Amino acid sequence: MAPEAATTPTNAPANAPQPLLDWVAGVATLTQPDQIYWCDGSEAERDRLQKLLVDSGTFVALNPQIRPNSFLARSDPADVARVESSTYICSVNESDAGPTNNWAEPNQMRTTLAGLFAGSMRGRTMYVIPFSMGPVTSPLARLGIEITDSPYVVLNMRIMTRMGSAALERIAAGYYWVPAVHSVGYPLIDAQGNTRPDVAWPCNETKYITHFPETREIWSYGSGYGGNALLGKKCYALRIASVIARDEGWLAEHMLILKLTSPEGKEFHLTAAFPSACGKTNLAMLRPTIPGWKIETVGDDIAWMRPGNDGRLYAINPESGFFGVAPGTGENTNPTALHALGRDVIFTNVALTDDGDIWWEGMTDEPPAHLIDWQGNDWTPDSGRPAAHPNGRFTVYAAQAESISPDWEEPAGVPIDVILFGGRRATNVPLISEAYDWEHGVFVGATVSSEQTAAAEGTVGALRRDPFAMLPFCGYNMGDYWAHWLKLGAQLGENAPKIFQVNWFRKGADGSWLWPGFGDNSRPIEWALRRIAGEVGAVDAISGRLPRPGDLNLTGLDMSREQLDALFALDPDAWAAEADLTEEYFAQFGDKLPAEMTDQLADLRDRIARVKAATA
Ligand code: OXD
Ligand code: MN
Repeated sequence: MAPEAATTPTNAPANAPQPLLDWVAGVATLTQPDQIYWCDGSEAERDRLQKLLVDSGTFVALNPQIRPNSFLARSDPADVARVESSTYICSVNESDAGPTNNWAEPNQMRTTLAGLFAGSMRGRTMYVIPFSMGPVTSPLARLGIEITDSPYVVLNMRIMTRMGSAALERIAAGYYWVPAVHSVGYPLIDAQGNTRPDVAWPCNETKYITHFPETREIWSYGSGYGGNALLGKKCYALRIASVIARDEGWLAEHMLILKLTSPEGKEFHLTAAFPSACGKTNLAMLRPTIPGWKIETVGDDIAWMRPGNDGRLYAINPESGFFGVAPGTGENTNPTALHALGRDVIFTNVALTDDGDIWWEGMTDEPPAHLIDWQGNDWTPDSGRPAAHPNGRFTVYAAQAESISPDWEEPAGVPIDVILFGGRRATNVPLISEAYDWEHGVFVGATVSSEQTAAAEGTVGALRRDPFAMLPFCGYNMGDYWAHWLKLGAQLGENAPKIFQVNWFRKGADGSWLWPGFGDNSRPIEWALRRIAGEVGAVDAISGRLPRPGDLNLTGLDMSREQLDALFALDPDAWAAEADLTEEYFAQFGDKLPAEMTDQLADLRDRIARVKAATA
């Protein structure tokens, strides 16, 4: 062991196994922290770190009368979101990353990282975080160790994962764990021994979020924010876990999980994949407008699913908290989320009120007369800029949501009946449509798209494809990923969940929304559940099977027949044009595109041709 590491003070627990100690010592030799602190996950540790962050200016303690034990962090304005352009899959073969990922040759990336991480923690404490993704004793859970030089990351990981001694005990017992190294890239001492003061949000202009699928390692440099830094979430639970899942025969998905109970007491579970900005968190905490139904939250972002002994597909939520987008969360849109935020919350990049509370756009109809904005500046309603950053976040324990399901921590997971795929489509895609079979469902998932809005780069109106909402999160070739889904479906056979496509965002000719959304989204979902229970029929159409007139529960909803027809209208010419775009899109996957996807496209074109022939 190098002399620096041998002399670095550490509180390594007695049960830490030697390979883990060696790995930690190796990272310390590279990054040269002042000390190594092993996290136990206790409340005393949390309190100490919270105080440390208040003293250092990273945290503003909120008014304890209004929001007990809650804090606001303001990030560097250049470190406010995941950076997909700096996210890499470093597989040995480029074709294993595929056309939808940034690829880097692993040895070259290791050399780059060795340069960046050398001395990157000088003057800082290096934290060692043992964590479990999933309830610690679940056979579906997986372990990891994140090393970080950010106490903000430690406190967020404590909410988002099962972190501390219990996870370390499993590692000590010999369970497999994934190593993950994170540095904000802001050493306080340089190679010559010169010191500099810390800043409230240390980070680096240079950022690398890297994944090594063959060795199942994560290295992240330069950012302290969200999915770049809380390595259990997107990096492990999606990118690395998708590779593990492929190899072991399960699924790691960017999906929420819901439990639904019908008025007759029948229980169902569903998972749902949505690209960003499609109201996924709102759906995860849905309050149904149809009487008698109960909807509960199992997970809001990620589902790990595995065939159980009875042949059905079982899901766990690998996370223990919500890292939700704050703006837009209000009493009208998501009261459940708002109520969960009463205490023990970390807020990032939202506004501060004069009485020491938080505010963001959409929290209330009327903004307060004065705020401190997310960058720490005075703000008034006529400032002409948002008070909270649009990607401002809350980090909160999942158990604080009143909608949390009693079985959300069930170690065996919950059996999945239905899988939903959604996008944000002003045209073409109906409110709900049932896939003809699993293969058609995989085709629907593979072609999920949203129309480009002015907020994103690209041509307005063009389709942004986000297959399975996994575009930035699949750790291997997307074509192989579809093949894996097909293989698992064949294995599940009759027991496979039924797949539906939904679209809450259809617009009328005048540009207005056709569907009220939010709590009323329970209506098409009810139809899906009644379908699988065999209680309602359907009509075959271009996109899949649609509700028969009268089968969708619209009681209490003021909706004209024309509006309803428009929600389900399928224009064969527009679908033919979209089929051409799908063919173009699929071409980039070359021989990785499963033959079943080409067959599905041909079937779609047949259905379009039949409709055209019938109406000619
Ligand atoms: C998220 C995302 O933050 O999907 O969950 O970007
Ligand atoms: Mn997500």
